[in-house]
Amino acid sequence: MLTDVDPFERLFPDAAVQWDLSRLYADLEQVAGKPLKPFEKASLRGLLCRYRPGQIAFQCSWSSGSLRVELNKGLYRLLEALVERPPNTLRWEKVADWLAERGYQITAGGNAASNLRPASASIDWGEAPEVSVFWGREPELTMLGQWLTADQCRLVAVWGMGGIGKTALAVKLVEQCHQDFAIALWRSVRQAPPLVQIAPDLVTTLGREPSADLLEVMRQQRCLIVLDDYETLLQDGELVGTYRPGCEGYGEFLERVARERHQSCLLVLSREQPKEITHHQGDRLPVRSHKLKGLQRAGAVALLAARGLDATANSIHVLIEQYRGNPAALRIVATTIQEVFNGNISEFLQQTALTLGDVLRTLLYQQFERLTEPEKAVLYWLALQRRPVSLNTLREQMEASGSELIAALESLRWRSLLEKTTEVGEALFQLEPVVMKYVNQKFVEEVCREVETLVSDAEQPFRLLASHLLVEDTAPDGIRATQIRLTLKPIKDRLTRILARNFVTLDTLRDRLSTRQLYDYAETNLTLLGLWY
Ligand SMILES: Nc1ncnc2c1ncn2[C@@H]1O[C@H](COP(=O)(O)OP(=O)(O)OP(=O)(O)O)[C@@H](O)[C@H]1O
Ligand SMILES: [Mg+2]
Repeated sequence: MLTDVDPFERLFPDAAVQWDLSRLYADLEQVAGKPLKPFEKASLRGLLCRYRPGQIAFQCSWSSGSLRVELNKGLYRLLEALVERPPNTLRWEKVADWLAERGYQITAGGNAASNLRPASASIDWGEAPEVSVFWGREPELTMLGQWLTADQCRLVAVWGMGGIGKTALAVKLVEQCHQDFAIALWRSVRQAPPLVQIAPDLVTTLGREPSADLLEVMRQQRCLIVLDDYETLLQDGELVGTYRPGCEGYGEFLERVARERHQSCLLVLSREQPKEITHHQGDRLPVRSHKLKGLQRAGAVALLAARGLDATANSIHVLIEQYRGNPAALRIVATTIQEVFNGNISEFLQQTALTLGDVLRTLLYQQFERLTEPEKAVLYWLALQRRPVSLNTLREQMEASGSELIAALESLRWRSLLEKTTEVGEALFQLEPVVMKYVNQKFVEEVCREVETLVSDAEQPFRLLASHLLVEDTAPDGIRATQIRLTLKPIKDRLTRILARNFVTLDTLRDRLSTRQLYDYAETNLTLLGLWY
């Protein structure tokens, strides 16, 4: 469909900051003898901003293959002709360099330069997403900007729970600070490649031989390297900080980056804090970490308003608080509120007990699956209790050793699943609301699975039914009522359905279980479920 607005026009506007685009378009059109097509102009701007053709195709909503074909047929040949290079010698990485040599880059004074493009302009964005909509985060950008530039930190970690906005913030940070570096590089380690696999790519992008030592290159020139999704390198199910087999090289690399002298900066983005950073960090040291929390109120309101919610509604603040300003969660609920509740936030809050959208559920699922059994046990307890709990209370309830519990709590905090507060000098632990909701659902599912095995074989060992208490007698009334509503009732409902499906009555199952020896919390829980007298 034809529209008045050129959909390509808004793509890669940053190119105009550093490049004399109108002269470049005019010269290329003269070589071609006809106007450039809008997608060619957009691709050129993307290439000047050092985007790969695949990323440009994505932004243009084209397939990567067809964009490459079009560029090979047209723009690349024009560029070769313009800079007087032989045909078919252009690679996309070269576009900016060649055009800089020809003086199409604008200097600080605003004129086109005829000298070589200063290296400081170059960014290799790798897999970094384009962040076009971004709200708030001014304090974080100021602080991290200071760490990277004025303080010349060697190693910086930004860590926090899934969806909290690490990647988006880092994209803005790199855009803001890259001028301070000769080159900036972004790589995601989501596929957990061993370091020996990505190091040659990094050093060649930095202009060295593939066999060069990465840290040596970081010593020779001031570069900014971003490693995103760093938690993927860490072992699932281990206490925080252990590397997957094959990825140990990153731990050693981080150690070297932290300890040895060099002029570059490694920025690590992770859901969990890498332990090498914990060991070396300090306010006056060149190794720092920042735990990223949710958006501050103004940013969160702007995000919701941009998604069509009424920014003046009082309930908007309740919504933000409930999701702790987590931008991924807010984006999801904003859509639900728009689509299901016609934009009415209060109605959503009244009718929905903290629904988790698919995206956030996936994020939490990935995080949960990585945990050790003691960590899961602690999370279940905290989800069930729905309020801040002290270490001593947990120790009594779980009958766990203090050291084991402290290790699990610390690990969970590093993974950003837990909040720690202090009340009258005592440390208290509680879950973020979205985490609590997810873990509670998970707990209900697991208990139902356990009940199902008991229906088919009453001799099966108890697991969560023995280790966790479904409803606490001693809990404040409000919390007890919630435990009944959100934990006990769903389990009872499922039990009824499981029994009906298996043609077993409650009495029969109770009889079968009556011969068993019950220990820990099993007796209380079975009584609550009507399976024990
Ligand atoms: N300041 C912001 N303004 C607007 N949207 C934001 C902001 N920060 C993050 N978002 C959006 O929220 C979503 C999650 O952000 P992001 O991907 O940066 O989270 P993350 O912490 O990197 O998550 P993960 O651990 O899964 O990598 C994205 O859609 C992102 O664009
Ligand atoms: Mg991310």
